[in-house]
Amino acid sequence: MFGTYTMIYISQALDILSALFVFVMGLAALSIVIMFFLDRFQSRDAVRHNFPVVGRLRYTFTRLGEFFRQYFFALDREEMPFNRAQRDWIYKSARGRDNTAPFGSTLSLTPVGTPIFVNCAFPTLDEQATDPPPITFGPQCLHPYESKSIINISGMSYGALSKPAVKALARGAARAGCYINTGEGGLSPYHLEGGPDIVFQIGTAKYGVRNGTNAFSETKLREIAARPEVKMFEIKLSQGAKPGKGGMLPADKVSPEVADIRGIPVGEASISPNRHAEIDNCGELVDFIEKVRGITEKPVGFKTAIGAYGWIEELCHEIKKRGIEHAPDFITIDGGEGGTGAAPMPLMDNVGLSIREALPIVIDILSQTGLRDRIKVIASGKLVTPADVAWAYCAGADTVNSARGFMFAIGCIQAMRCNRNTCPTGITTHKKRLQEGLNPEEKSVRVQHFVEKMHKGAGIIAHSCGVPHARALQRKHVRIVQASGNSIPLSDIFPEIEAPF
Ligand SMILES: Cc1cc2nc3c(=O)[nH]c(=O)nc-3n(C[C@H](O)[C@H](O)[C@H](O)COP(=O)(O)O)c2cc1C
Repeated sequence: MFGTYTMIYISQALDILSALFVFVMGLAALSIVIMFFLDRFQSRDAVRHNFPVVGRLRYTFTRLGEFFRQYFFALDREEMPFNRAQRDWIYKSARGRDNTAPFGSTLSLTPVGTPIFVNCAFPTLDEQATDPPPITFGPQCLHPYESKSIINISGMSYGALSKPAVKALARGAARAGCYINTGEGGLSPYHLEGGPDIVFQIGTAKYGVRNGTNAFSETKLREIAARPEVKMFEIKLSQGAKPGKGGMLPADKVSPEVADIRGIPVGEASISPNRHAEIDNCGELVDFIEKVRGITEKPVGFKTAIGAYGWIEELCHEIKKRGIEHAPDFITIDGGEGGTGAAPMPLMDNVGLSIREALPIVIDILSQTGLRDRIKVIASGKLVTPADVAWAYCAGADTVNSARGFMFAIGCIQAMRCNRNTCPTGITTHKKRLQEGLNPEEKSVRVQHFVEKMHKGAGIIAHSCGVPHARALQRKHVRIVQASGNSIPLSDIFPEIEAPF
């Protein structure tokens, strides 16, 4: 009896399934016929016209390829902007895992520009090694800032980044003892979580320090400066990924809260001017630095990408003319390879020098003009591994900033969606559903581990070169591979310059 009913049910289920199958197949066939005619009788797309239906696969595969390449096809050292080896080093470091590698390096040592550190015959013993000494920004200010970390979180605005991402980075900076730069979107409550050291960035739109008429507000600046967490102010002239273009936040990322903090309309793209209205020459830059420092009584510097000839020299001469106390307390040099939330590709690809060239050039100008000791130099631009950071210290940096290194540390998978509000890891999207996987507290521990491993890794390179810590590295400690295949010391390419008397 039971067996008969079961058979009836199975045969009815099979009938339904086969009817469904015929229906789905019929629908698919009909769709293919419709697509065939749509493709054949359109002239906008030659591939689809000449190869109806099949031509569409090209677009599907192109889209999917973006995701699958990194898993199946790309070699460890192949992808851009960051390859798997670099990302894996950061992921493992951030998880606090062992990040030793087996068998041998997968890095080719022959491409032009490859840095090769000069190991010494008698490396530094562990007991001779020391922590890098702290650096002091603006010692003459009423509130100077002492910074210990050899790597810090570069400017990324709340808006470009999500709420949980900013929380994770802020709490992580506090745990790690590094600073976090707000980027140009103003100071959000999330930057204050955990009580990290904060560098407030004044972007060209003056978000966070402007009044109702969008003009620079001294009152707002004073309020921000009164916060003990805010240690320094960075005037953004430009960033490496888009020199000559202001910040760009696409409309769908301008949530009510982002709009409120910036003082702009909800859901309208946030486009900053290409430069500060009041800064059109070196004299006006020094004036603005003086003004901000006068109001805040804290160290003030500026961030720039390097391209045009002569202006850093002109700036130095202007400072010398007015007196050394008028100098910026720091200059952040951002390389053309630097990251961004959104930028036009022509600027991103081909405008502005790489940090590898820009950093030693600026250091040398400061040395030639006798301002090297007065002005601290911060370097950024794809400096995400111990070797990158050690190179920057060899070249002369006082400290290093990283944006994307820290994004990887909190889980970025390089999905390249920062400009679309669809980031699958929740880091650069304001969609609640996508943010659910980003736990600020857990990820803040990863920030801490990443900083610790960076200190350890850069230290290992320094010890191999025979110096006690990364800040003691000099240009002679790194050689750069040339077109001939041989390497020459960085100190031959950019000879160390003695300060004038
Ligand atoms: C998502 C994102 C947002 C950014 N927002 C800003 C910003 O608001 N202001 C700024 O000066 N730079 C901004 N940058 C640039 C970084 O601060 C930094 O200069 C650049 O990414 C170089 O560092 P990296 O190569 O380690 O990423 C942003 C970068 C990223 C990836």
